[in-house]
Amino acid sequence: MGKKSRKVKEEARLRRKMTKLWNRGQSEYCEVRGSDIHGHGVYAAKDIPAEKQVIEYIGELVDKNESETRAWAQHAKAEATGDAAVYIFTLSKRWDIDGNVPWNTARLINHSCEPNCEAWVDEKKIFIHSLREIKKGEELSFDYGFDIECYEEHPCRCGSKKCVGYIVSQDQWEELEKRKAKDRKGAA
Ligand SMILES: C[S@@+](CC[C@H](N)C(=O)[O-])C[C@H]1O[C@@H](n2cnc3c(N)ncnc32)[C@H](O)[C@@H]1O
Ligand SMILES: [Zn+2]
Repeated sequence: MGKKSRKVKEEARLRRKMTKLWNRGQSEYCEVRGSDIHGHGVYAAKDIPAEKQVIEYIGELVDKNESETRAWAQHAKAEATGDAAVYIFTLSKRWDIDGNVPWNTARLINHSCEPNCEAWVDEKKIFIHSLREIKKGEELSFDYGFDIECYEEHPCRCGSKKCVGYIVSQDQWEELEKRKAKDRKGAA
């Protein structure tokens, strides 16, 4: 095989790979639009039944060392540009997924204190599932599960009546209320 035809074949293989990846990151249930919460968001393109697998959160599988390096870089870039921050998703003690790739539509799902979806980890994959029936046009959201540490760096603008003001895992809301009260006292 000549050098030129090898190159053409390799390009076709890469194109097929990219198309496959791109399709894996799409879902009939999802469309992307500007969001009142932040930047872009993902919206229900049609009614979604409860407990349905909505979309896969795809990205690059990275170990914890690599993940930490990337998280710091993404955080620094976000601080400098004011753009969205980190797209690293915890998978296990050893592995994370860096979802900062354009074909990962789910990376644009915003956080809410009253989410209509949740993220499920299935071995080395992450899927977004609906928690209830979602009507066409509703913005999709899930609990980012952020740790309470440095909570003030992540103000929440989800707009829900249940909003606790910060992007903090629901598991830590009780602790957050105590922390907020303590910090208010300290500031007075
Ligand atoms: C993974 S991105 C989500 C997509 C983002 N809206 C965009 O346009 O790129 C995560 C970032 O979105 C922003 N974000 C997501 N949910 C938010 C919320 N409830 N309140 C404020 N900012 C939020 C934060 O900047 C967060 O670091
Ligand atoms: Zn909120």
